[in-house]
Formats: sequence, structure tokens, C-alpha cells
Amino acid sequence: MAELRPPSAPRRHLLSIADLTTDDVRRLLETAESLAASLDREMKKLPTLRGRTVVNLFYESSTRTLSSFELAAKRLSADTMSVRSSGSSVDKGESLKDTALTLAAYDPDVIVVRHPSIGAAHLVARLTDAHVVNAGDGKHQHPTQALLDLYAIKSALGRLEGVRVAIVGDVLHSRVARSLVQALGLVGAEAVLVGPPTLVPPTLASLGCDVSHDISSLAGADVVYVLRMQRERMAEAFVPSLREYTALYGVTPARIRPGQVVMHPGPMNRGIEIDPRVADSGQALVTDQVRAGLVVRMAVLYDVLTVAPVTAPAQAVVA
Ligand code: CP
Repeated sequence: MAELRPPSAPRRHLLSIADLTTDDVRRLLETAESLAASLDREMKKLPTLRGRTVVNLFYESSTRTLSSFELAAKRLSADTMSVRSSGSSVDKGESLKDTALTLAAYDPDVIVVRHPSIGAAHLVARLTDAHVVNAGDGKHQHPTQALLDLYAIKSALGRLEGVRVAIVGDVLHSRVARSLVQALGLVGAEAVLVGPPTLVPPTLASLGCDVSHDISSLAGADVVYVLRMQRERMAEAFVPSLREYTALYGVTPARIRPGQVVMHPGPMNRGIEIDPRVADSGQALVTDQVRAGLVVRMAVLYDVLTVAPVTAPAQAVVA
């Protein structure tokens, strides 16, 4: 097996929202908007990435991200294959490095990586010649989720600049929240993080947003963005009980006002962080977010393969 080495050719990755400029975000959203028109046609497939290969390497469960990357690659006529750690040779103890090098032997153009460790996508970018897209690394980053959320907000409200988004719930364990706060900052929108001090510590204000422990803060927002309680990432009790969390911070019909839209990255814990009456209401954009995921991931695949790289080679930052 080859050793860790610098990339042999310039490549464009999407590892973090921090890699992007405002112009990058604008270009990606415009590309997604133009690709969305193709999905209304009877023949939905475009020849754009014919002859290219996209590998999805997923070490964590996923419904939305994996299915949308697969479909996005297919809609752009790329060859695609998905490897889930469960059922692969990872079960026999194969390392991320050896798995990445094995898949890189097929010369994929893009590797999409989801992994529980922070920096896993950076490592794959260092190890292989592929363009790498981070589909979620621990509680660090989920950049395509943030981009699809911007797309869904713009579609619903007609603008991004000046929009105020209240992100409520388990921010501590949330890569979605970290990515979204950065992305909102790039487009001139504001974020307030809302939840109990154990899940929304005041230090999170360093992300460049407001922090509130008062659920009534939702009232000032245009968008109420509900986060899943990530019990699988909680090694200790962060709330006295889920019942108490729901009573204090659950998003119920009484806690949202007319004119607000409600978002959730999924999967939802109905009856815990979000009341089913809110999830199923006309104010909820949850299905719009899933649809946005397809066109935004088509745009990301197109972008990494066609736009000249401007960022420095990825650093290995596995934590
Ligand atoms: N929002 C999100 O990442 O969903 P999945 O875990 O189903 O991909």
C-alpha cells in the first residue's frame, strides 16, 4: 500500500464550508437552480459527467445524503457505486486508509465520505487522487447539508440576505449546525442558537452567532431550524430526561408563529424535538430540503469536477 503523500494534481474538494467564499456559494446555488429545471423534464438524465466515476464511502448510517449523492451522480450520467462500512471489509478490521487506497485503485473521480471521525474526509483527500466531498465527519462539518439548506431557504423566502435562522436543540453534537452557521454568515444571514446550556454552551457564540437558552427566542426568527437529539453521540446525560427536554425546547405549534418556516435535516425524532403537528404542517420545509439535496449535490459534483481549484491541498486533521 502507498504512503500518505501530497496530491499529484490540483483537485477541488468540498471538505468544509470554511473552504468556500461567498462567490463559491452563489455559484453553487445558481448551478443547482439551473439543474433543477432539468428535473422537471420527462428525460431527467444529463450527459454532463458521462465517463466519470463517483464512489460513496459511508461509515455511518444515512438515508438522505447517500441516496441523493447516488441519484445526483446517476442524473449526471456518472458511474457510481456505494460502499457502506457495514458488510464491507471494514467489518474485518480494514482501516480507513486501506479502504480508501483500495477504492482509489479504481481511479474514481470523486469520493464522497461520511465517517464518525473528524477529519476523515481530509485524510481521504490526502491519500487519493480523487476530488473528495465531505458527507459528514463526526460533529465537525456537513457542508452539502448547509448548502441544501440555503437553497431551501432561498426557494421558500426568496432571499438569504438578512434572514434570521433560529437553530434549536442539540447544537453541541451537530455538524449540521456548525456548517449552517458558517454558510449563513457567507450569505449575509444571521443565526441564533437556542437550547439548554448543556447542549448550547455560551462558547458557541465564537462561531459568530447569538446564543439563547430561552425558547421564546424563536419568535424573532424567519426560520426555525430544529436539530435532532443525537443520542448516539451522547456518552453522558445532557438533559435530565427527554420528556423534560421536549417540555422546555420541543418545537410545538404554540412555539412557532404564522409566516415562519420550519426546517429539520432529518431523521426526525417526532414527539421529542419536533411535534408531529409542526412536522406535518404547511410551514415545514422538510421534504423541500430533501429535494434540494438532490440538485445541490448534482451541483457540487459538477463543481468539483469542472471548476479550477483555488484552495490549498487538504491537511490531514484526523482527531
Ligand atoms: N441530513 C442527513 O444527513 O440525513 P442522513 O443521515 O439520512 O443522510
